[in-house]
Amino acid sequence: MMNSAFSAVELAPRDPILGLTELFKSDTNPNKVNLGVGVYYDDNGAVPLLGCVKSAETQIVAKQRARSYQPIDGNANYNKLVQTLLFGADSEALDANRIITAQTLGGTGALKVGADFLKQVVGCSDVWISDPSWENHRGIFGNAGLTVNAYPYYDPETRGIAFDRMIEQLKVLPKQSIVLLHACCHNPTGVDLSEDQWRTVVEVVVDRGLIPFLDIAYQGFGSSLDEDGLVVRLFAEKCPSLVISNSFSKSFSLYGERIGGLSIQSATADEAKRVQSQLKRLIRTNYSNPPIHSGALVETVLADSNLKSEWIQELGGMRERIKQMRLDLSTNIAKLCPGADFSFITEQKGMFSYSGLTKEQVIKLREEHSVYAIESGRICVAALNSKNIGFVSEAISKVVI
Ligand code: LMR
Repeated sequence: MMNSAFSAVELAPRDPILGLTELFKSDTNPNKVNLGVGVYYDDNGAVPLLGCVKSAETQIVAKQRARSYQPIDGNANYNKLVQTLLFGADSEALDANRIITAQTLGGTGALKVGADFLKQVVGCSDVWISDPSWENHRGIFGNAGLTVNAYPYYDPETRGIAFDRMIEQLKVLPKQSIVLLHACCHNPTGVDLSEDQWRTVVEVVVDRGLIPFLDIAYQGFGSSLDEDGLVVRLFAEKCPSLVISNSFSKSFSLYGERIGGLSIQSATADEAKRVQSQLKRLIRTNYSNPPIHSGALVETVLADSNLKSEWIQELGGMRERIKQMRLDLSTNIAKLCPGADFSFITEQKGMFSYSGLTKEQVIKLREEHSVYAIESGRICVAALNSKNIGFVSEAISKVVI
């Protein structure tokens, strides 16, 4: 085997999140716990199949539909339902046909198509992401050819937002800089801006002529679908140009179905039409068009008032269970390790907690206790349950002493 074209290919590092799941799978400890990837598990440690999804699937299968290609931007009815969920039924921009949506391959797919659009079509050069942000944001925007910078966000001293520094930074960004913001349940910290702080960010973004890119992958995991969507509506009301990536991986427990959306708000209906035509060109030359099944599942649930109510209830159940796990973890650690205060965990929102564990502690947790966390100290609280929380609390207490 001489002269291989690939002989100089270097081994890439494992993905910091999904690579950890690979490592977890090869661990033979029966007590192992994966607090790495952002996946919601139920109290039995299983990824749930939601009742509303089960019913939708039964309906879809019964129809035995043929499988021709979908339109390039996906299922039109699904796209409309996504818009209503994000912008609200009374959205002025929706009425004015200023918003277009494309069904995408999860939230990640939406981020990639959005990044390609901003780089190739709009001509943007720089994106600003929060410090810290979801590990993959840097990779996605970087691969799209944008320079990735970070604005101050989390203050480890206060375990809150470094808001003044964040605003100071946003105020000096050049016009047309893209600002990536987590609309709710910030990943990885679990620390969100208050409504007043969001209003200030909107003002600065508008004043400076920045392009807001809202990533909303955890709608419903913070407070409620409606409250978690508030940020989208605040921006939509004030910003002529707005880009949004959303994901149903978590809220519908449809991780492997890769279902999300890219929505873009423009200043006029005509502009929106042109934006849509460009998105279609980008998608066509990338993966042609999205798969049918995942969009049909979400469409079926959102279009049926009974199934939608069932979904909202199931989503609420997931949210409340996570809150309980936050409380239990904080209480356990207070008992086991009085010197370590983990009460801040109960204030954080969504699936994640920036636990404050150092890289060394995370490695110890993994190597000595088979408890897997991201090296930044992020843990997925949604992977805790009544059976493993005692074990995890003890393991954490042992590494923080
Ligand atoms: C996470 O942050 O763990 C999730 O969003 C899953 C992923 O794709 O990284």
